[in-house]
This record gives sequence, C-alpha cells and structure tokens, in this order.
Amino acid sequence: MSFTPAPWPRKLRSQEWYGGTTKDSIYHRGWLKNQGYPDDLFDGRPIIGVLNTWSDLTPCNGHLRELAEKVKAGIWEAGGFPVEVPVFSASENTFRPTAMMFRNLAALSIEEQMRGQPIDGAVLLVGCDKTTPSLLMAAASVDMPAIVVTGGPMLNGWFHGEAVGAGTHLWRFSEAVKAGEMTQQEFLDAESAVTRSSGTCNTMGTASSMASMAEALGMALSGNAAIPAVDARRRTMAQLTGRRIVQMVKDDLKPSDILTREAFENAIRVNGAVGGSTNTVVHLLAIAGRVGIDITLDDWDRLGRDVSTIVDLQPSGRFLMEEFYYAGGLPVVLKRLGEAGQLHREALTVSGAQIWDEVKGAINYNEEVIRPADRPLTEKGGIAVLRGNIAPNGAILKPSAASPHLMKHTGRAVVFEDIDDYKAKINDDDLDIDETCIMVLKNCGPRGYPGMAEVGNMGLPPKVLKKGITDMIRISDARMSGTAYGTVILHTSPEAAVGGPLAVVRTGDMIEVDVAARRIHLDVTEEDLAARLAGWEPTHDRATSGYEWLHQTHVGGADTGADLDFLKGCRGAAVGKDSH
Ligand code: FES
Repeated sequence: MSFTPAPWPRKLRSQEWYGGTTKDSIYHRGWLKNQGYPDDLFDGRPIIGVLNTWSDLTPCNGHLRELAEKVKAGIWEAGGFPVEVPVFSASENTFRPTAMMFRNLAALSIEEQMRGQPIDGAVLLVGCDKTTPSLLMAAASVDMPAIVVTGGPMLNGWFHGEAVGAGTHLWRFSEAVKAGEMTQQEFLDAESAVTRSSGTCNTMGTASSMASMAEALGMALSGNAAIPAVDARRRTMAQLTGRRIVQMVKDDLKPSDILTREAFENAIRVNGAVGGSTNTVVHLLAIAGRVGIDITLDDWDRLGRDVSTIVDLQPSGRFLMEEFYYAGGLPVVLKRLGEAGQLHREALTVSGAQIWDEVKGAINYNEEVIRPADRPLTEKGGIAVLRGNIAPNGAILKPSAASPHLMKHTGRAVVFEDIDDYKAKINDDDLDIDETCIMVLKNCGPRGYPGMAEVGNMGLPPKVLKKGITDMIRISDARMSGTAYGTVILHTSPEAAVGGPLAVVRTGDMIEVDVAARRIHLDVTEEDLAARLAGWEPTHDRATSGYEWLHQTHVGGADTGADLDFLKGCRGAAVGKDSH
C-alpha cells in the first residue's frame, strides 16, 4: 500500500482547545499550565496521549509507568508534547466474572477518552490480554494516529530445574496434583517460580499472541512483540515508539490506513505460524468490525489451513518468549511467511514503510525455537472452524494444541449445564464418564456467563486423570486461556444462552467430531433437534441493570467478535462543542 503524508505544518485538533486567544482557549491553557508547562508547548505541536493501562491490580502491566517515561522521552525528543492518561485496565487475573466482559467497556471508555480530550495521537501502552484489543478497538473507532507498545513478556519461570510457563504450568501442575503426581506443597512452592519478573505471560498465550497480532497488523514497530519486559531493549522500543507517533501525527497516518483487509489476513496467518491463542479470533473480529473490514470465521479457516506452526513455544510446544526473542522474534516469522507467499508484503505499518521492507533482513538465530519449513511443529497450524447442527455459526479448535488421536472421534456426551454444574459434578467418582466421552459445557458464552469466560479447557475428571489420560474432547461456548492446551472446541455459536443448539444437547447423546472435514454433529434427527429447540427457555439472563445488563442486552456472538452491537464501526475523532 502506498501512503501519502499530509502536508505539515497544519492545524491539529488539539488547537481546538489550546490555540487562539478566546476565553475558552485561555481557560484550557491556563489549567494545563498549572502543571508548569511553558507557553511554547501550546504552539501547535502534536499533543500525544500516552494511554496507560498500568494498575496495581493488573500486575502484568505493573511496570508500565516506568515504560511510559521512556515513551514520553521519545515524544519530547521528536518535538511533541506528551500527556499521560490512565485508562481502563481489565486484568485477566483479577477481574470477575471475567476480564472479557469488560473488554468492550474498556474500549468504550477509552474511545471517549481519546475523542473527548485534546490529543492528536496516542501511544497505546498495553500488555495483559484484554488491554491490547480494547485499546486497538478504541483507536480504530476514533481513527486518530495511534501506535502500540506492549509491556513485553516476563522472564522464563524456573521450577525444580525446569523452565515453566505462566498459565500453561498452572494447568499442568493442577492436573498433576489431581493425578497424584505432585504434592500440594510442591504446587504452592511453584507459585512464585512461574511468574518471577515484571511482564505478561511468557508463553504464546493471549498477551503474547495479541502483541504478535499488533505487530503483524502493522500497529507496532517491528520487533516489538517479543522483547522481554525487563530487557533494556524494551525501554528503547518505548522511546522509539514515542518518537515515531509524533511523525505519524504530522503525516496523519491513521489506523484506517493500516488496518486493511491485507493487514488482517497477515495477522491471521501469523497467528497460525506462532501457534497463537484462540482468543485472537474474537479480538481480531472485533477490531475488524470497528474499521468496517468484513473478516469472518471462514477467513480464519481458509487462511490458516496452509500455514504451519513453526514457533515451538508453550502451550503448543517447548520454549518460552525469552527464547523466541533471542531467536529473532516475530520479524523472522513474517519473513518466513513472505518467502512462502503467505504475506501481503506491501501492507503498511506504523513506520510508514511496507511490512516486507521491515522484515526481509531478519535472521533466525535458533532453528529449534523458530523451526525450518521442513520441520514445523505442526503441519497444519491455524484455527480450524467446525460447523454442524450443534454449531451452525461455527466453533473453533486449535489443532497445534490438540491431540492427533482425537481429531476424528465419536463419543457420548456428558453435559454440564453451566460452570457451577461442572464444578459440582466433576470430582464425583460416580460420574458416568470415561476418556471416550465428550464433555459438553453450556452457558459460558458472551451472554451466558456473562462475558465468555476462559473455562472451555475444563479439567478432566480425576478418575480419568489417574489412568494417565491427559486429554479428552471438550465442547463449549466458552473461551480458553491462550496458555491452555488440549482438544478443546470453543466459541460454539450461537451460544446456549441465546438458544443455540448447544443448549439442548443431553447427556447420552452421541457427538461426532471430524476436524479434517470441519464437522461437528449431534447425532439426533432433525425433528428431535427442532422439538428440543422449540421447548427451550432462557435461563442465564441475570442482570436487570448496570453494565452487566448492558453487556447481556447488546453483546454479539463469538462468531462476530463479541462486541457490543452499538459500538461497531468507526465514529471518527471530530471534536464536540466546547462547554465554556
Ligand atoms: Fe495478564 Fe497473562 S494474565 S498477561
């Protein structure tokens, strides 16, 4: 794509507040001057919002205040005027019922913070899972120059001489305790070893996947995704990002110039190549919805089919983000896709250059971590989209994290009506279940949970684990953590809480799964299914007021990104009336 920079100098939107000699401009300038800013900072230079998702209760982003200082240094150096703005921070590891319920609320509030305040561009300082998509969604809807810098992954965890990954080893250790292979005390000892430095999850979980998506979309500087949080080069990246946004504002390089269909197709392929999180599906669909790009689940299936997973990172593989960075990081993956004809080389990035120009010189320093084309981690990476009478609008599965022997399987359904039902039954040795069964969890979708919690990778029953079995097919309308693994069919749409066919699956029904044929089928007659659906009644609309009500009333299906219906689309950055 070619981009023609806007002429400079010209009047920027911040001058609507700070330019001129009227009562209103004196009022606005005067107030900001109480922070000690001299006159010449109001001369029409770009004012840059450093939108910071730091929070003590988002520990993954706990170091972003220090990083913000480097961003600001870069903005000053380039002749801009930085203003740091705290924004809604939805932490994965604290928010209840689930951070995902607040992704859209965060995007809504941040969109208004961007539009309603005197900034000309924004640095999106993000990290934890939902912070990256929520700020990208907001920036896309405002369409003001914006650039992402992530906080970076934490250092490798180490426990009993083994490198351990955040999230992934929580699941592994938890199952090991249930199987009697690990003591509870050892599990407690591991607690501080897994997450031992600042930064986001160090696996290719959702945070690292979304950082990779931001880079692949062209919304972050090349090389941003993998630099560890505590590496000095992360701070350098923050400073360079600060410098860059000033020029982006002068050039008027906006998200709508970068977030094209080609950019999304690149990101989808990258997600397959890195073995990225299933959560990127809902987030990219939502971001695309904000810029009016018609990306669908079928694009995910089509574009991912011929992409091999070449990055050998947990949860699909062996290594962690530290090794990925030392091997060369995402530019190596992008280069490989470009060489294979699987990259739109001309896609524009925040640098103003085409993506190929940024990655064509990348070098792979470790072919164990980023594998050669003839030795991929998984031949068919990507996301498989299954359809059938249980999931007419689709359900997804991550083949690189699944068990090959379960990719074609017919089993007896063991149904849990919701997460409470699952918790009440799963540890009961009288539960009629074995490893050939298919576990079905309902009412955990965007509306049902509410918020589409990461419970789709429900733990196996202890009596199965004790046999040494580590995987069974699980089907739900939930999500799963990007750090999780297994033959887990997720995002089943329409969800149970809106009367999708998943709602009427019964224990004892037979279910056929055939990933190669992209098929998921409930083995009942059409008449039987229709009769069951006719008798279905909603059971999980709980809220009558507040944000939970707004969410349950307006949230869309996982197959379209689970955004709120009234937030789709780009509303622009036009300045409203002044009230003074
Ligand atoms: Fe925040 Fe993983 S829980 S990055």
